[in-house]
Amino acid sequence: MFEASAPAKVILFGEHAVVYGQPAIAVPVSGLRATATFYESAERGLRIKAVDMGEVLPVMIDSELVDNALILTAQKVLRTLSANPPDAMIELRSTIPMASGLGSGAAVSTAIARALLGGMRLTLNIDELNAIIYEVEKIYHGTPSGIDNTVVVYEQPVYFVKDQPLQLLSVQKPFTIVIADTGQASLTRVAVGDVRQLYEQQSARILPIIKRIGHIAQQAQTALKSGDLDELGPLMDENHRLLQELTVSSPELDQLVVVARNAGAIGAKLSGGGRGGNMIALVTSGNAEAIKQALLRAGAVRVFISEVGSC
Ligand code: PMV
Repeated sequence: MFEASAPAKVILFGEHAVVYGQPAIAVPVSGLRATATFYESAERGLRIKAVDMGEVLPVMIDSELVDNALILTAQKVLRTLSANPPDAMIELRSTIPMASGLGSGAAVSTAIARALLGGMRLTLNIDELNAIIYEVEKIYHGTPSGIDNTVVVYEQPVYFVKDQPLQLLSVQKPFTIVIADTGQASLTRVAVGDVRQLYEQQSARILPIIKRIGHIAQQAQTALKSGDLDELGPLMDENHRLLQELTVSSPELDQLVVVARNAGAIGAKLSGGGRGGNMIALVTSGNAEAIKQALLRAGAVRVFISEVGSC
């Protein structure tokens, strides 16, 4: 038996603009996790039991055109190491809501890859693992920037620029965020595609928005490194306004953002692909619970409080 897990993530700054080469900041949410457990089995072959979905999926090493991310993850790990599938079952469980901008896809893939490696007593270095999870992410996202897999695999805050070497971000002063789910599932792939269309049709208007979002991420990096948390609030608010202009907010996200601010949040914005999914608010440890309650009263279906930078 071998158990492995991976965390959820939120994007603090820079979603969507990151697809166009701008920097973005993402942090792990270690309290929400996908967990995979490898058991040796008397039956031949490798199967993945997705407990929450009630599915058992056989992994065939030689089948092509796999469109299931869980099977593809196992296949890619085995192929990278030229290993045959073991006689085993991997049981997958997750507390991360799906299709809501919390990196559920990257987390389940990472947990499965680690459980398979550990169960077979094989190793891949973390960069090789990250590259595999990135390839699998393409199933969900089409053309992912790579931010989700990176923050989930390394489980550390990252300052991420597409196609550039990894930059871990050292957070000077730990802080608290509240994450609230609109309950509306939303496909990142669709939102990313719509922004791409907007960019192609109206580049003169959209390009400055994308660049400004990137600049906000740079300013936020400086604030995080110096522990200047009050600077982050207005940057989050402006980032949210710019995401509205990119058409990726929704009435529900906007409402939760306003509720959080009115309840005392330092700043608030949508997080991730948008159109649904989650928003985040920067809060203090003193008002986190009151803001959580306000968001629940306003219709959020799930609200988590998470500490960032405290380890
Ligand atoms: O997986 P999500 O919904 O957190 O979104 C990922 C962030 C985007 O910038 C919208 C897309 C990407 O690939 O970076």
